[in-house]
Amino acid sequence: MIRSQIIGTGHFLPEKVLTNKDLEQFVDTTDEWIVQRTGIQQRHMANDGEGASDLGAPAALRAIASAGLTPEDIDLILCCTMSPDYLFPSTACLIQSKIGASRAAAMDVNAACSGFLYGLSVANAHIQSGQYKTALVIGSERVTNILNWERRDTAVLFGDGAGAVVLRAAEGDRGILSMFLGADGTQGNLLIREGGGSKYPITPENYASGLRDIIMKGQDLFRRAVVVFGGAVQKALEQNGMTSDDLDVFIPHQANVRIIMAAAERVGLPEEKVYLNINRTANTTSASIPIALDQACAEGRIREGSIVLVASFGAGLTWGSSIIRW
Ligand code: UT7
Repeated sequence: MIRSQIIGTGHFLPEKVLTNKDLEQFVDTTDEWIVQRTGIQQRHMANDGEGASDLGAPAALRAIASAGLTPEDIDLILCCTMSPDYLFPSTACLIQSKIGASRAAAMDVNAACSGFLYGLSVANAHIQSGQYKTALVIGSERVTNILNWERRDTAVLFGDGAGAVVLRAAEGDRGILSMFLGADGTQGNLLIREGGGSKYPITPENYASGLRDIIMKGQDLFRRAVVVFGGAVQKALEQNGMTSDDLDVFIPHQANVRIIMAAAERVGLPEEKVYLNINRTANTTSASIPIALDQACAEGRIREGSIVLVASFGAGLTWGSSIIRW
């Protein structure tokens, strides 16, 4: 059986760091509130003039190098992002040009914070169908550029960053073992940014009326997230006939420590198997899982043969999970 094996990982976090204490200087918030409610201590922030493609390109190059390949070896590029450089052309095309992957097809995938799981699934399907052999899946977000710093309910939650993986068709039992995706469009208003698209284009009136802002119904989203994210984790185990004992590490989307630990508890997964980096990166939406995968590999938490569970939830609503034998 042909499987998609992850043969390379990479990530890129901008140098500039904004701690909660830094935020206290210009947002009506406290370090204590942010840490207690979310687990976030700091976030990275890109430089002026940088977009998602500027973070995604170095992450992609690192993943390709770690796979022992060159950009010319890549057949397909998927960039998962909800903060693309432009509405079009796609950020994937911009990255293709920046890294010189001239043979690759390229497109964006937008499933907000679940983007990476959706992208992984699309790449996996292309590989299993035999259409492509080598795919690059990037999660890249320049979210701090679309935040309204006067809205403390969202300003403190997000950070910039990018992560990438290289998938390759391979025989054997290593690779993606299962994929599960879900969506509930009726709950789209729980987390939404209406302005800047075709319905509410950028006009002075729309800008002034707050349509450019990310609007989040935090508590409602929290409650839904605990249900659908926990459900996605459980589903992944069921699909593989596994229990939490079979897992080596759980790499969750990093939105809130409390949501992550509720999902882990639901399936009886001990804390030491849960990989957390939210304290260092905040919520980097579709980049959070590939960043964490690369960091977990570098730290020896993921090794050849490890059974890795990844799961996410986000705006849409969207959610998903996958079990990978590394
Ligand atoms: O990536 C996927 C998408 N994101 C999520 O899934 C996020 C899901 N939601 C959450 O993680 C949580 O709802 C938050 C962390 C966003 C908020 O935590 P909460 O415990 O639900 O707080 P809350 O919204 O109920 O607000 C509690 C209080 C309010 O004050 P009052 O009305 O009790 O006086 C807020 O005004 O905290 C206040 N507040 C803040 N205070 C200091 C809201 N934001 C802040 C802030 N700093 N940044």
